[in-house]
Amino acid sequence: MKTVLITGAGIGIGRSTALAFGAAGYHVIVTDILEAEGSKVAIEIVAGGGSADFHSLDVRSTERCNEVVALVEKQYGAIDCLVNNAGIAHKIPLSELTDAKWDHTFDIDLKGMMRLARAVAPAMKAKKSGSMICMSSIMGVAYGWDDHIHYSAAKSGVVGLVRGLAVELGAHGIRVNGIAPGYIRTAQALSVEHSVGPEALEAAAAYIPLKRIGEPDDIADVVVFLASQGARYLTGQVITVDGGLLVGRY
Ligand SMILES: NC(=O)c1ccc[n+]([C@@H]2O[C@H](COP(=O)([O-])OP(=O)(O)OC[C@H]3O[C@@H](n4cnc5c(N)ncnc54)[C@H](O)[C@@H]3O)[C@@H](O)[C@H]2O)c1
Repeated sequence: MKTVLITGAGIGIGRSTALAFGAAGYHVIVTDILEAEGSKVAIEIVAGGGSADFHSLDVRSTERCNEVVALVEKQYGAIDCLVNNAGIAHKIPLSELTDAKWDHTFDIDLKGMMRLARAVAPAMKAKKSGSMICMSSIMGVAYGWDDHIHYSAAKSGVVGLVRGLAVELGAHGIRVNGIAPGYIRTAQALSVEHSVGPEALEAAAAYIPLKRIGEPDDIADVVVFLASQGARYLTGQVITVDGGLLVGRY
């Protein structure tokens, strides 16, 4: 049975991705700082006939990232797929953007992804196979986002991380790709305090060629594809999944 480790898998896109991998027959290692939500996702997968464990994991801790990966590898061998999904988007205008706030976002949204890639790579290399998928954003690959420059910069950084890892690890049979989601209905996008909020989110549907806001499942299915044999010659790419938003015109 193939194994997948997903960060931030208690809610939103991470949760849907965990359920999709469970349905695809993977053993799913659900991780999050949200222990109640993460455990519930693992229970849901098992109740649906799948296989899953939950581990509490804050991607800001190098020690914990290494510990969880070592624990999982001891039980199941090399991890087949890593999904670097955990991320935060805090609304902070430039005038209030302290070094600490900038570092906080980068620590989770970019460095956290490197920590896990670094932890899982040795066993993947030894096995000569593996796949990593990192969550960027349309705010990282195309749009600028006012009051969120730290987020946009970190998500742009994810593109560089994906490209660099793909080149460094390709010869070892490891593929690394990313996804740049558009507007997806999750707690993050629905937050009035930190993101667009429910009204502006619904209003955006009119500007999206497919005429609807994305659902977490719309992203989860693409993650499962990127991990699959069907994507065997695909590496170093960040796929935009946005209902056509970026190619549309107004
Ligand atoms: N929703 C969107 O419209 C959208 C668009 C583009 C990109 N994204 C990206 O997709 C990913 C998932 O976002 P979402 O919309 O599901 O958000 P969400 O807020 O619903 O979920 C984020 C998850 O990350 C977890 N997390 C936060 N800090 C963490 C930490 N330090 N360690 C481990 N886990 C942590 C949270 O607990 C939560 O489970 C993020 O990287 C986000 O930036 C989302």
